[in-house]
Amino acid sequence: MRSELREQAQFWERRFFATPPDRSLADRDWSWLVERFRREGTRTVLDVGFGRGHWSVALARAGFQVTAIDISELAVQHLRSWAEEEKLQIEAFVCPAQELPTNRVFDAVIANSVLDHMFKEEAEEAMRRIRAVLRPGGLLLLGMDGPPDPEDEAYPHQVFPDGTWQFWGGRRDRMLWRFWTDEEIRELLAGFLIEEFTVRPKDGRRRVWARKLYAQEN
Ligand SMILES: C[S@@+](CC[C@H](N)C(=O)[O-])C[C@H]1O[C@@H](n2cnc3c(N)ncnc32)[C@H](O)[C@@H]1O
Repeated sequence: MRSELREQAQFWERRFFATPPDRSLADRDWSWLVERFRREGTRTVLDVGFGRGHWSVALARAGFQVTAIDISELAVQHLRSWAEEEKLQIEAFVCPAQELPTNRVFDAVIANSVLDHMFKEEAEEAMRRIRAVLRPGGLLLLGMDGPPDPEDEAYPHQVFPDGTWQFWGGRRDRMLWRFWTDEEIRELLAGFLIEEFTVRPKDGRRRVWARKLYAQEN
């Protein structure tokens, strides 16, 4: 893996796995997601940048066949053992989103809070690949952070020409983060029909449901 990606993987491992991960998030009410996928006749789901794996586990518990990728080896080990303990159908492997192989097809893809943790061009490449593996008419759920708040602004960081921030020191040391404007998110979703675009009032976090257009509609 490229050294910049390894650096990011190490950051997330420090953040997530310094202490045993809390699995309770998977026990929350996921019906908003599960029901929507069921209505679509979804069977296979790809979880991009799955982190501690709550989304993957919640979906696998509901009977979906989940494939999950992350840059972190520790994340993969954790999710594999969690899936084994619960006898869930989850295939987890290390793979940067921007290097996702495009030889598989999924009914749905989720990418929550991951494409905003890389450079803009890398996120664009990741989205091209996500689009390539999603079946025509399939649903993508994309989650992107809201704009920087005063705490983010105050945290030591440098800003790259594409608008990506890298934090230095403390608990965010080396984390890449980029604020995507609503317009940029819409551009990123070229080739999709945006069905829902919601902004959480408390922090501006965006949740977007987008459907992959059929080839003739591109
Ligand atoms: C903020 S967490 C989100 C985790 C999960 N999606 C969730 O919503 O709980 C970001 C995750 O993306 C992973 N990640 C960061 N850069 C990545 C990349 N280029 N490709 C794949 N995963 C990446 C990190 O290792 C981390 O697990």
